[in-house]
Amino acid sequence: MRVEGGVRLAGEIRVGGAKNSVLKLMAATLLAQGTSTLHEVPDILDVEIMAELLRRLGCTVTHDRAAATVFIDVPERLGHQADYDLVRRMRASICVLGPLVARCGQADVARPGGDAIGVRPLDLHVDGLVRLGATVETEHGYIVAKAPAGLVGAPIWLDFPSVGATENLLMAAVLATGTTVIDNAAREPEIVDLCHLLTAMGARIGGAGSSTLEVEGVPALHPAEHTSVPDRIVVGTWLIAAVMTRGDVTVRNARPEHLEMVLDKLAGTGAQIDRLDDGVRVACERRPSAVDVVTLPYPGFPTDLQPMLLALNAVADGSAMVTENVYEARFVFVDELQRLGADIRTDGHHAVVRGRERLSGAPVRATDIRAAAGLVLAGLVADGVTTVSEVHHLDRGYPDFDAQLRTLGATVAREPDPFAAGG
Ligand code: UD1
Repeated sequence: MRVEGGVRLAGEIRVGGAKNSVLKLMAATLLAQGTSTLHEVPDILDVEIMAELLRRLGCTVTHDRAAATVFIDVPERLGHQADYDLVRRMRASICVLGPLVARCGQADVARPGGDAIGVRPLDLHVDGLVRLGATVETEHGYIVAKAPAGLVGAPIWLDFPSVGATENLLMAAVLATGTTVIDNAAREPEIVDLCHLLTAMGARIGGAGSSTLEVEGVPALHPAEHTSVPDRIVVGTWLIAAVMTRGDVTVRNARPEHLEMVLDKLAGTGAQIDRLDDGVRVACERRPSAVDVVTLPYPGFPTDLQPMLLALNAVADGSAMVTENVYEARFVFVDELQRLGADIRTDGHHAVVRGRERLSGAPVRATDIRAAAGLVLAGLVADGVTTVSEVHHLDRGYPDFDAQLRTLGATVAREPDPFAAGG
């Protein structure tokens, strides 16, 4: 993506449903035979990959892009294997593990393997399923979980409030016999959203949004219709972009209550924040002040917005310390920001950023979806042109990213990638 620096973003955009919710909602529909309907489904690559995975399990999936709606018709007899070719393209495919073992008594899901943002083990998913009575082995690169006589509710303590493990165990527990209590559960709004869909399908869940989830298993669920929560990471990306470019941006369909920590940090930069009935407006008249940030599970500052916040601090007035507590390798993207002239030093999971008045445009390479967004934002405040290669990562989670940037006044264009395979 070719990004011209020196613009001030201004205007209004609307965000759709959250990638990190919709993918799990799609997996949850596997729990009931019949057609479930999901609204506010974003038109992104990861949704297509999840749709393909569900089709290979035997579902009929129809995506009405204009209406942002997906219909998933789940057959009585489902396949139970998720292949490596899909799982390696999208790690979140692992979220079919819980629903499949609950519904079919067996799930064979390829192990995802390495990831650009660090080691991402699955021990909490596996240990939890074992607590629910499944046997779990790794065979030929697959996690094979079996519970032919059904799962049995049990108390589970998570060592860390993992989003993915909480979701998988929740989706497994809803069809187990008896009660499951998940302690130290993740509290992200996407988990609350999943609880809402599961409840609409007939599940009995208490404590959604708290760190203790109580699930009373039921023998069967029925299909349901549900609208996804808005994507707080996409909202946060646009708000940070507004502050960095000293702009004025209104994001509609945003839920400020899901972004308290982010809005607090943006207020700390000196930006003006208005909470609207159906969104947020952020305006920044002057150079933002640097802000310290520590990433933590929700309601802490989201790790998925850390690259954008680092980019903001790179042009802020003053110095800041950014601490990454969730993914140890997320600072790999700092090398690319340094190519743009950012003054950042990392030591373990801390980064010290000394703000510069401006960055300097250069070719850089995106390593993952959030790094890609961070680099495009940095390009907006760099002199001259910044070219972000491997920007296809953006398509995994940001619908129409370039079009939305243009709506806000940026000059950006996609170009053929000279480093792409064969090029
Ligand atoms: C989800 C989000 C991702 C976000 C992350 C943290 C999706 C598709 N992705 O990822 O965008 O950055 O939450 O908010 O929803 N861990 C273990 N053992 C496990 C599972 C996780 O040690 O079995 C560790 C991970 O290595 C990591 C931390 O827990 O350090 C957080 O991971 P987790 O919350 O599970 O993130 P994901 O669900 O993979």
